Amino acid sequence: MKYKGYAYIYTIGCQMNVYDSEKLGAILKSYGFEKTEDMDIADIIVCNTCSIRHKAEEKAFSFLGRFARIKKKKPHLITVMAGCVAQQEGEKAFERVPHLDMVLGTQAFSRFGQHIDALKSGGQKIVDTNDAPMIYEALPDTTCFNENKISKFVTIMQGCDNFCTYCVVPYVRGRERSRRPENIVEEITLLARSGVREVTLLGQNVNSYGLKEGMIPFPQLLAKINDIKGIQRIRFATSHPKDLSEDLMHAIRDLDKVCNHLHLPVQSGANTILKKMNRGYTRETYIHKISELKKLCPQIALSTDIIVGFPSESRTDFYDTMNLLREIEFDSIFAFAYSDRSSAPAAKFSNQIDEKEKLDRLNQLLELQETYTIKKNTALVGTILDILVEGESTKKRDGFEPGFKKQMKGRSQSNKIVHFPSGHVNIGDMIKIRIENAYPHSLWGHPLGV
Ligand code: SAH
Ligand code: SF4
Ligand code: F3S
Repeated sequence: MKYKGYAYIYTIGCQMNVYDSEKLGAILKSYGFEKTEDMDIADIIVCNTCSIRHKAEEKAFSFLGRFARIKKKKPHLITVMAGCVAQQEGEKAFERVPHLDMVLGTQAFSRFGQHIDALKSGGQKIVDTNDAPMIYEALPDTTCFNENKISKFVTIMQGCDNFCTYCVVPYVRGRERSRRPENIVEEITLLARSGVREVTLLGQNVNSYGLKEGMIPFPQLLAKINDIKGIQRIRFATSHPKDLSEDLMHAIRDLDKVCNHLHLPVQSGANTILKKMNRGYTRETYIHKISELKKLCPQIALSTDIIVGFPSESRTDFYDTMNLLREIEFDSIFAFAYSDRSSAPAAKFSNQIDEKEKLDRLNQLLELQETYTIKKNTALVGTILDILVEGESTKKRDGFEPGFKKQMKGRSQSNKIVHFPSGHVNIGDMIKIRIENAYPHSLWGHPLGV
C-alpha cells in the first residue's frame, strides 16, 4: 500500500546499522513515507538498535520509552524497534515498552512493508524475529538518499561465525554469509554515478569474505572495486587478526584506491585473556602480522578495539595490554569496559571484574593512548596530505582554529580529520593540504594551489 506521512529513523550502533537504516528508509519511502529529521511531525518512528553493550541497549529502551505520552496524543503514530535488540528481545520488548507497535528483527526487513500494512488495517502488535537469512538484494536501493554524500557504507557480508565469548553478534545476526561480488560491484557503481567518491566495505570479518561460498576472496573483491570509475577511496572494516592474509597486505600496498589504514581489533594484549575470549591468535602472532604489514606499507595508519575488564583479567593482564599500546603505537583506539551479555558465554565465566576497576583501567588506557595519538598527529605537521573534502566544519563538534569564521573539513587516507580555511573547493574534491597544526582529534592546514 501507499501512505502519506513522515518517518523518523534513529540509529544506534555500528556502521552496519547505518547501512541498514538506509534500507529501512528506502522501504518506508516506497510505502510513501518521507524521511524527516523532526521527530514531532513523524507518523512512524523507527529505532534501529544495538545490543553489543548494556549501555547501547539501554539507549534504545530509553529512546522508545519517550513515546508513551506522544502516542496518547497521536494514536496513529507507529513505533518500531528494529535490529539487534529487537532480534534479541522479541516479544519481551513489549514488557518494557508497552506502547511499542512492532519488533522487527535483523532478518525481517524484507517483511517490514507488509507489517506496516497489517498495523494500518487495524492489526495487532507485530513481532518478527524469524532468523532465516535476509537477502539484501531483495531490499530497495538507497541511492535516493545520496544528496551531497561523498562517502557511503556498503555491507558486503552479514553475520559472524567466530563466537568470541563476550560477543552477542553471532546470536543476533546469525551465521556468516557473503553477498555476491557482482551485486556489490553493481551497487558501488550506482553509488559512484550518484556522486559517491568513497566507500567503506562492511563485515564482521571481511578477511573471510566469500570463502565459505567459494566466491572470490576479499583481496580480489577489492581489486574489482578499485576498477570502478568515480570511486576514489576504498576503506573496509573489520579485519580479524587471525585471518589477515598476506594477499590482503599486498592489496593494501598495490591497489591505489585502497586507503593506507587498517583497523585491526586486538581486544587484549594478554594471551590468557585472548584464549578465554576465543580470539584464535596470540599477542605474538598479532605483533608479527603488524610488523609484516609495516614492512610492506611503512606509512600505514593503525587502529584497534580493546576490551578492558574481561572476566578474570588480572592487573598483569591489563598491563600486558598497556604495553602492547606502547609497543605498537596505534594511531587511534576504541576502548570499552567489558559488558556482560547474557546470551554470550563469558557472562557465565567466574571472576567478573568490579565496575569501578573496569572504569579505572579504561581511563588509564585512554590516557596512555592519547599520548600516542598526539605523537602520531604531531609527526604529520609539515607534511602534505591528500584530503577528500567532506563539508563545512561545525563549530560544536570539531576543533576550530581561532580566528576563522568558516572552515571546511576533509579526511586523509589515514582517516584523520583535517580542517582548513574555506576557499574555492567543493565537497568531493581531492585536494592537497600542508599540515600546520596538530590536535588530539584533528589536524589543521592550508590547501596548496587553490
Ligand atoms: N567484528 C568485529 C567487531 C564487532 S563489535 C571484531 O571482531 O573486531 C565492535 C567492538 O565492540 C569489538 O571489537 C569489541 O571491542 C567491542 N565489544 C564487543 N562485545 C563487547 C562486550 N560484551 N563488552 C564490551 N565491548 C564489546
Ligand atoms: Fe563478535 Fe568476534 Fe564476530 Fe567480531 S569476530 S562480531 S567480536 S564474535
Ligand atoms: Fe551492535 Fe548489532 Fe552492530 S549488536 S555493533 S548493531 S551488529
